[in-house]
Amino acid sequence: MIRLENLSKIYGSRENPIVALHDVNLTIQTGEFIALYGRSGSGKSTLLNLLSGIDRPTSGKIFVHAAEVTAMDENRLTLYRRDTIGFVFQFFNLLPTLTVLENVLLPGQLNKHSASKLRERGLHLLAQLGIADRHQAWPDQLSGGQQQRVAIARALINDPQLLLADEPTGNLDSETGLHILEILKSLSANHDKTILLATHSLDAAQFTDRVFQVKDGALVAQTNKAGK
Ligand SMILES: Nc1ncnc2c1ncn2[C@@H]1O[C@H](COP(=O)(O)OP(=O)(O)O)[C@@H](O)[C@H]1O
Ligand SMILES: [Mg+2]
Repeated sequence: MIRLENLSKIYGSRENPIVALHDVNLTIQTGEFIALYGRSGSGKSTLLNLLSGIDRPTSGKIFVHAAEVTAMDENRLTLYRRDTIGFVFQFFNLLPTLTVLENVLLPGQLNKHSASKLRERGLHLLAQLGIADRHQAWPDQLSGGQQQRVAIARALINDPQLLLADEPTGNLDSETGLHILEILKSLSANHDKTILLATHSLDAAQFTDRVFQVKDGALVAQTNKAGK
């Protein structure tokens, strides 16, 4: 379970504060697929960055599986990011000088698994995502949708409980984007991953179990789809 308590983030100076998030409260169950839907500048990325410990809130608390993220020192945060969080980005962020498989294995190399076990797991994930045959390719030899599937495999290499996807379909055509959303949905439904999807697309948001509208740094709307 994830709990956000009175979470606020203010950038800028005391004279010119930029309120990116204002008093956000949210509880998410393990395995839920959640959309944060809102226009550009509404605070979606800020929320994901606070959850992943990349950034710290101005006030408020974050609990992930009973651990208080907001109380962690830098060393614990590094381990938390490595072991608990997988991140997927709009522009894939693959390293162009590494092969597909090397990109997938990179975050796993800081872990204690043997190189052969890790490689096996990387290939297994690529196979699950339907791109094992491209494991020796370079990222720029792949289509956008294939690159995003590689990025998802990379995000899963340490078997994180929480997957954060920041506009993952924002750079894909709608059919390819739909495929990526289906992959995310099946990760939450079949593999019990908790997933937060930040998106400005209502179509994408409606793919999830619960939609929260983010507006001027606040969660204002909450649409529970029928039957959920
Ligand atoms: N590092 C930063 N410094 C100053 N302002 C920022 C910073 N990051 C985000 N903001 C501001 O916070 C608000 C929310 O931004 P963001 O979370 O990136 O929104 P979204 O992801 O929904 O587009 C915006 O007004 C943005 O300009
Ligand atoms: Mg953003």
